[in-house]
Amino acid sequence: MKKTVHQFLLFLLLVITGVVNAQNFTSDSRQEEKICTLIGKMTLQEKVSLLHANSKFYVSGIGRLGIPEWALSDGPHGVRAEINRHDWGYAGWTNDSATCFPPGTALAATWNPQLAYAQGLVLGEEARCRKKDVLLGPGINIIRSPLCGRNFEYMSEDPFLISKMAVAYIKALQSKDVAVSVKHWLANNQEEHRDSIDVYMSERALREIYLPGFKASVMEGGAYTVMAAYNRFRGGWCSENDYLDRQILRKEFGFKGVLMTDWSAAHSTETAALAGLDLEMGTDIKDYNEWYFADPLIRAVEKGRVPVAVVDEKVANVLRVMFKTKMLGGQAREKGKMNTPEHQQAAYNSAAEAAVLLQNNGNLLPLHFDKIRSIAVIGDNATRKHCSGGLSSEIKALYEITPLQALQQKFGAAVKINYVQGYEKQSIFKEGNNSGQSGADKVDWKLIDEAVAAARASDVAVIFGGLNHDFDTESADKKSMDLPYGQEILIQEVARANPRTVVVIIAGSPVKLSGIVYRVPSILWSWYGGMEAGNAVADLLSGKVDPSGKLPFTLPVALSQSPAHALGNFPGRDLKVNYEEDILVGYRWFDTRKIQPQFPFGYGLSYTRFSVSGVSTDRSGYGKNDTIRVRFTIKNTGSVYGAEVVQLYASEPGSSVLRPEKELKAFEKVFLKPGETRTIEMRVKVSDLAFYDESGKAWNTEAGEYILRLGNSSRDIFQEVKISVGSH
Ligand code: BGC
Repeated sequence: MKKTVHQFLLFLLLVITGVVNAQNFTSDSRQEEKICTLIGKMTLQEKVSLLHANSKFYVSGIGRLGIPEWALSDGPHGVRAEINRHDWGYAGWTNDSATCFPPGTALAATWNPQLAYAQGLVLGEEARCRKKDVLLGPGINIIRSPLCGRNFEYMSEDPFLISKMAVAYIKALQSKDVAVSVKHWLANNQEEHRDSIDVYMSERALREIYLPGFKASVMEGGAYTVMAAYNRFRGGWCSENDYLDRQILRKEFGFKGVLMTDWSAAHSTETAALAGLDLEMGTDIKDYNEWYFADPLIRAVEKGRVPVAVVDEKVANVLRVMFKTKMLGGQAREKGKMNTPEHQQAAYNSAAEAAVLLQNNGNLLPLHFDKIRSIAVIGDNATRKHCSGGLSSEIKALYEITPLQALQQKFGAAVKINYVQGYEKQSIFKEGNNSGQSGADKVDWKLIDEAVAAARASDVAVIFGGLNHDFDTESADKKSMDLPYGQEILIQEVARANPRTVVVIIAGSPVKLSGIVYRVPSILWSWYGGMEAGNAVADLLSGKVDPSGKLPFTLPVALSQSPAHALGNFPGRDLKVNYEEDILVGYRWFDTRKIQPQFPFGYGLSYTRFSVSGVSTDRSGYGKNDTIRVRFTIKNTGSVYGAEVVQLYASEPGSSVLRPEKELKAFEKVFLKPGETRTIEMRVKVSDLAFYDESGKAWNTEAGEYILRLGNSSRDIFQEVKISVGSH
């Protein structure tokens, strides 16, 4: 009898807190009843056992109640190989090689949410095949500085682009009965001091820049879990931050899933419990019972410092995710599959669509391999494999095709390939600091001389340079934006020896190109390309595939142009960082302050040409609840099949507050055959033109004039249209 009353009260609590009938995380009342019944049968010890790990990546189940153990795995661009249960060593399994996708910045550079969806499906299937229940991704922190070590894992400097890609990824992955974990909540925008830095930003920057990706992930994507970041936010740890976790995530976004810590990001029992944290992972204490959400939580409940209802709420969140992913409830669950040809094709598609053609003077690219007799392939990145780097996102790829392998395999029979190393990787990665990047400025003249000789003896030279995961890595930021190991000199010397020199940049974050853009005709940015990297880049170089990627971040001429660095607030002082650039992150800064970057946000060339015409809106005046329809006609006026990404930027010139010169509000990747024409309609809600009004603590769509600009980068605008918004 007592139990039934308790269950009824718990059910009531779930109804009152909006869990039942929640919109973004639909849960039917029968399921909530089942959750209440299960909780009603649990002892306090059993409840708490669901709220902390029992090993590196697992959480205990409750056998007698049929609740299985919970299995988590990194993410975000592949399913990580199996780690030992109680230490960070690899378990040495022979069946955990996986499909490895290009990481976050590359995915975002495709500007194609369908590819994010395709990736989500593959990750879901492979996670299930490995019997995983949660995949720790996507990583969606804003790229605030070119130096952040984890930029490669993240997606963009723009919250709209992030949102579109993340929602697609999440929906697909979760459709395979695996939960995502959107990370890192919030403002983990640097690796330096990541576990102690205290981040300050205005409420407006929070709302306009740093929250939207998470909001979309939860409210549109329906993310089942979120990972709290290591850092502090406005004084409080993210894992126990009442404002972030309770007020925003739970109340405003209506999040009904599990908020877990990053690995070893818990700092308290009571504060965290009350703030809304559900699950403690990775704490660096050997005895799991001593973790904050283990025996100390039991004691806190027994002493009345944490109400049992708070523990029940957490358990309900865990069970809800288990029902959603069909761990509970008896429905047939996705069985999964690994390394199918379709999975490998999906990885190839992302790599092929991600590459950004930055420069192509005299149309040196594509290379006509039928006419070339010899090619000098130069650079450490021609032969280096990258899937296994970067720390927590490292993947034991089933295979990884390097650029040299692919070129040899595809063209080696007809074309003489003269490979030379060009530069040598000097650095050795050391976890926890960036001292591993030392040696980055060493110039090896012997290797340069060899490269020059090879270039001179060949029809064309292709230099595969850029970075590696000593630079693009978790746990350390880059020290500079420079190309390491004397590559700038190498490129200059090779280009002098052979003007038909192409540079392929393999990197996941901005690097300085000012020393090479005037020296070489063609630059292709091909990112870390995952397991199919080489095949994709060879097909791009040969023109089998048209480059259609666009930069997901601004490429500055020099670090000092970048907002956080121009204002001297990266990585902060005395373990505090104040985001003084405020809402002017990335191109919002460059375009508003009229600073000319090396290459702008959204930029990328193609082997074909497009013309956009007839840009118009369905009306000239709109009400605040209306939707604007923007139409345009696009034609492929060149001679090969290709894709253009048409981007819509909005601005409000007469605003009562400073607003960015441009803000991305819509985009569409359009694939066209030569000569083909299509008319496209984009939709923008008038309410999405709002800014966050600090004084009214609300979104404000001011009445007045707005400009909508259509372009293929934030700086290359085809046409603009003015519209007006009325006061209602
Ligand atoms: C990273 C997370 C990762 C976790 C588990 C942490 O160091 O910040 O992104 O999911 O480790 O490997």
